[in-house]
Amino acid sequence: MQGNSILIHIEQFARTFHSGDASGHDWHHIDRVRRLALYIAEKEGKGDRFIIEAAALLHDIPDEKMHAGKKEGEEILHRFLGGLPLVEETKKHIAEIVFSISFKGGNEAELTSFEAMAVRDADRLDAIGAIGIARAFAYGGKKGQPLYEPALPVRSAMTVVEYRNGKTSSIHHFYEKLLLLKDRLHTETAKSLAEERHRFMKQFLQHFYKEWNVGQ
Ligand code: ADP
Ligand code: NI
Repeated sequence: MQGNSILIHIEQFARTFHSGDASGHDWHHIDRVRRLALYIAEKEGKGDRFIIEAAALLHDIPDEKMHAGKKEGEEILHRFLGGLPLVEETKKHIAEIVFSISFKGGNEAELTSFEAMAVRDADRLDAIGAIGIARAFAYGGKKGQPLYEPALPVRSAMTVVEYRNGKTSSIHHFYEKLLLLKDRLHTETAKSLAEERHRFMKQFLQHFYKEWNVGQ
């Protein structure tokens, strides 16, 4: 198999795996992350495009949110990568990127390659701006979480367990994560794309509170 047909094969696998998801990890999220990551690489003039595309396509396969247990997703990824006609070193690099991105929450795994930075920045960019706002409310709805609950405290430094089990609202999620992401990007291209997205979220919040507090 040539590089291009391997990517088509990976795409088919990811498309099937993510189809029908409504927690913010649907196929279109994966496709946007792929395009963003490749755009970052192009603008920065760096990186192995095959590795970036493959890792972006697979980045949410082992996500704990997509499986009953933590091990299950890891196994699915390893089994799939194991079956690809690629040299061990390439498979290892792809797996490394995917695992450093997929286990999140409080996790800030050290990134060792530009390819990993491009994919992580792309994933973070897709969590902010207009799309990020839409994803936050979609996720909140799926989890039965309120749009906003003024009585809840804002917790900005939660552990993964607190974060997963804690009570929050989708508006709280902006302070717990989304507004912090622009300062956690690695590449200049992503930082520059994040500016407008960040501004738009702040504007959205202003309008949200204005409408929420009407008549008060
Ligand atoms: P990703 O795989 O894109 O890095 P996550 O798995 O952390 O993202 O979450 C998927 C989407 O759901 C993201 O857009 C994220 O902001 C949103 N999300 C995660 N947790 C919450 C929450 N408690 N409330 C609202 N949105 C959330
Ligand atoms: Ni993702």
